[in-house]
Amino acid sequence: MVIADLGCSTGPNTMLFMSNVINMIAHCCSKLDGHDHVELQFFLNDLPGNNFNQLFRSLENIKNSTTTGHKGGLPPSCYISGLPKSYYSRLFPRQSVHFFHSSYSLHWLSQVPEGLEASGKSLLNQDVYISSTTSPLVVKLFQEQFQKDFSLFLQLRHEELVNGGRMVLIFLGRKDEDVYKGDLNHMYGFVTKALESLVGKVIKRPGEQGKLESFNLPTYGPSVDEVKEIVTKSHMFDLDHIKLFEANWDPYDDSEGDVVLDGANSSLNISNLIRSVLESLIASHFGGNILDALFQEFRSLVAQHLKREKTKFALIVMSLKKIY
Ligand SMILES: C[S@@+](CC[C@H](N)C(=O)[O-])C[C@H]1O[C@@H](n2cnc3c(N)ncnc32)[C@H](O)[C@@H]1O
Repeated sequence: MVIADLGCSTGPNTMLFMSNVINMIAHCCSKLDGHDHVELQFFLNDLPGNNFNQLFRSLENIKNSTTTGHKGGLPPSCYISGLPKSYYSRLFPRQSVHFFHSSYSLHWLSQVPEGLEASGKSLLNQDVYISSTTSPLVVKLFQEQFQKDFSLFLQLRHEELVNGGRMVLIFLGRKDEDVYKGDLNHMYGFVTKALESLVGKVIKRPGEQGKLESFNLPTYGPSVDEVKEIVTKSHMFDLDHIKLFEANWDPYDDSEGDVVLDGANSSLNISNLIRSVLESLIASHFGGNILDALFQEFRSLVAQHLKREKTKFALIVMSLKKIY
């Protein structure tokens, strides 16, 4: 079986995914006579800038979590390769992959929406993402870019999957149909505020201030209905399952309820999370020297916010089967 994790990064989620697949296949094979020689080929995909060295060094851990628990049977043989390329392009030969997985990645667009930037300025003004003051015309540009990118992604993976092949995709989305009440708007609003507060402090020269107006995030959080519509229109996949779930902004806080128990710690965890996601984009636009001050300011804005409200990300999880 050929299996690919798209947008794998270097963290533990890709290990978790791989060990789940290996354990599941081993479990299924142990129940079927004559299926004890299954071989798995994993492709770990991300953009070429990803730290593939770190990823492959940490693969050793996977052995420890997959060699136990299979009564008598050996775990399937695994062959693991890196695949540094954008998934908005063809990655595999026709009909050669059995299963695609992608987590926390497909809300990233292939580029900032076409038409958003004119003469070095952005139609979002100082905002880095859609805010309450963004015009409907600009919102439409984001929606159209997502439709274009996600449709292309479906088309490419449809070509690469074997007949009956499947995908499980998890990405950030939006709970409310109203695009102005998006869950990402809130978080990225604090990034905008933190950047604005640096003007005159860390961002001092006039040319650098202009950079604020040309910095936009190539991302979009769709609603479940928007995603369903794109899949239906594609006529390429059966949508087995689609669901929205929520996760606290603080990735280490699994508690239910509406109260943030440790605001100081949570604001630090959230700031570290967003820094790991945005660091390279911000550094390549403004230079790395603003990062510490920016995320200090961001953390303090988030800490203030958490006193008033415990906020969550909305995540879309979906399972698709190729129609042939
Ligand atoms: C937040 S990380 C998610 C990592 C991991 N899948 C997880 O669940 O923790 C998103 C990853 O998607 C990658 N990514 C974004 N756009 C991509 C593209 N067009 N092609 C391949 N990878 C992409 C980024 O480089 C980043 O490593």
